[in-house]
Amino acid sequence: MNIILMGLPGAGKGTQAERIVKEFDIPHISTGDMFRAAVKNETPLGLEAKSYMDKGLLVPDEIVIGIVRERLAMDDCAKGFLLDGFPRTVPQAEALTATLKELGREIDHVININVRREFLIERLTGRWICPICGASYHTLFNPPKEAGVCDKDGGKLFQRDDDKPEVVAQRLDVNIAQAQPLIDYYAEQGLLRNINGEQDIQVVFAEITSVLRG
Ligand code: AP5
Ligand code: MG
Repeated sequence: MNIILMGLPGAGKGTQAERIVKEFDIPHISTGDMFRAAVKNETPLGLEAKSYMDKGLLVPDEIVIGIVRERLAMDDCAKGFLLDGFPRTVPQAEALTATLKELGREIDHVININVRREFLIERLTGRWICPICGASYHTLFNPPKEAGVCDKDGGKLFQRDDDKPEVVAQRLDVNIAQAQPLIDYYAEQGLLRNINGEQDIQVVFAEITSVLRG
């Protein structure tokens, strides 16, 4: 199954992706996670991506498209994949369609998680991440059993640099500006399914799995 998971920053893409890839046994391809790994390893890609991410801007299309194209050609994607946070612009979506065509594949489902802006700010500023497994927690909505510690592997939770309040506002504005044309692109192809992301994490997951199985 080839899936795209869309939604504004903080909509719950990572939270749901973690559950979906486990349920369907497919690789999780998050461009944000790929860039953060490159930043951590101080690669040339990481240095370039960081200059955009720290300001809440999008990394240029040609860079993002290049890394996704390479990733989709890897063997583990033959059984399907979940794209989290890609595509984010219409040129990225068009490049994805072309790449999949070359590989003889196509997208089966596009899930768009909807959450209003005011809730997104609260979610992003309260988010804590595990440096080992990447799991996302929230101080109020999804707290770990022990404060500051990952339930799964004991990792010491940290906050992302781009979750600082001044960057969050810019990230939301930049992503909101790109969202509608992308939604229209997949709606016209009859692939788009909207999910209300303002419900409990388990309820959102149940609705997504019902679409994917339907
Ligand atoms: P990326 O890492 O993709 O960040 P993002 O899109 O800003 O989204 P987030 O990861 O912040 O949010 P999420 O939807 O995963 O929410 P989460 O599940 O964590 O990208 C980072 C940067 O990389 C971009 O800004 C850009 O610079 C660059 N980039 C990446 N892809 C790119 C592309 N394609 N093109 C160009 N540039 C690109 O949940 C958030 C919080 O809410 C958590 O604390 C969670 O516990 C909580 N939560 C989740 N669900 C619920 C719920 N149902 N109820 C209550 N709380 C919830
Ligand atoms: Mg994420």
